Amino acid sequence: MSGFSADWLALREPFDLRARSPVVLDAVAGFFERQHSVRVIDLASGTGSTLRALSSKLPPRQSWTLVDNDPDLLAAATSKNQDVSVTVVARDLSRDPEAPLEETVDLVATSALLDLVSDAWLHRVATAVAARAIPFYAALSYDGRVVFTPPDPFDAAVIGAVNQHQRTDKGFGAALGPAAADVALTRFTALRYAVIQGSSDWQIGPEDRDMQNELLDGWARAARDIGALPGGGIAAWLTRRRAMTAAGSSLLVGHVDFFAVPSTTR
Ligand SMILES: C[S@@+](CC[C@H](N)C(=O)[O-])C[C@H]1O[C@@H](n2cnc3c(N)ncnc32)[C@H](O)[C@@H]1O
Repeated sequence: MSGFSADWLALREPFDLRARSPVVLDAVAGFFERQHSVRVIDLASGTGSTLRALSSKLPPRQSWTLVDNDPDLLAAATSKNQDVSVTVVARDLSRDPEAPLEETVDLVATSALLDLVSDAWLHRVATAVAARAIPFYAALSYDGRVVFTPPDPFDAAVIGAVNQHQRTDKGFGAALGPAAADVALTRFTALRYAVIQGSSDWQIGPEDRDMQNELLDGWARAARDIGALPGGGIAAWLTRRRAMTAAGSSLLVGHVDFFAVPSTTR
């Protein structure tokens, strides 16, 4: 399981769903409560996790456009709601990121994307969104915090290396990584948006061994790729952490959600 495979997205989706900030979801729901219909575009939708999380909070008539550059993920996109129309668009969002916004939409949504993009990309998208006075919902931006229970003396070194890796190019230029939500909030505030934010930390319990082991493997890989730590130290850490997972450890992984609302409406 690696990258953005459908298996990985399916493994993380229940954690995402539990983690999404209710304060932010309520703000999105409240914004549209007087409307009968809503058109949403989901940037880097994967298989449609945001559609499944948000659909029940929006007016009954919805049309969603799911945009992603992976046609296999789009082919697996499903909605729990039969009344919702879903269109999928295979597009590389790193190029011409404003293009999908030419479609008339009431809400731009995204999840687990902003930490992958560069400041320049975010600036272009935020500016295009603001020029159209569209509200923007962004869920599950990783913020760099990982809390291991119980701790290991090498945790901080590994997560430090992981957070360095988070800032490397993920296809959009040097990634914002853990700074993504803060930078986005600053950008939208400067564009005269009001921002509602909330935490959406993954709480990964002792019973969630598959998720823990998947994360540990990914973090060990990222730490090795960065090359700042001795390989033997990373391998020994992974062995100790896997033993702790088997014995019932737990994890918190920090994320931020926000809903940005324009000061003017269209
Ligand atoms: C962490 S996944 C999140 C997927 C989904 N939003 C979710 O929350 O399950 C990141 C998504 O970004 C998509 N992605 C990565 N680079 C992209 C690009 N250049 N253009 C469009 N989509 C991209 C991946 O295919 C993947 O679906």
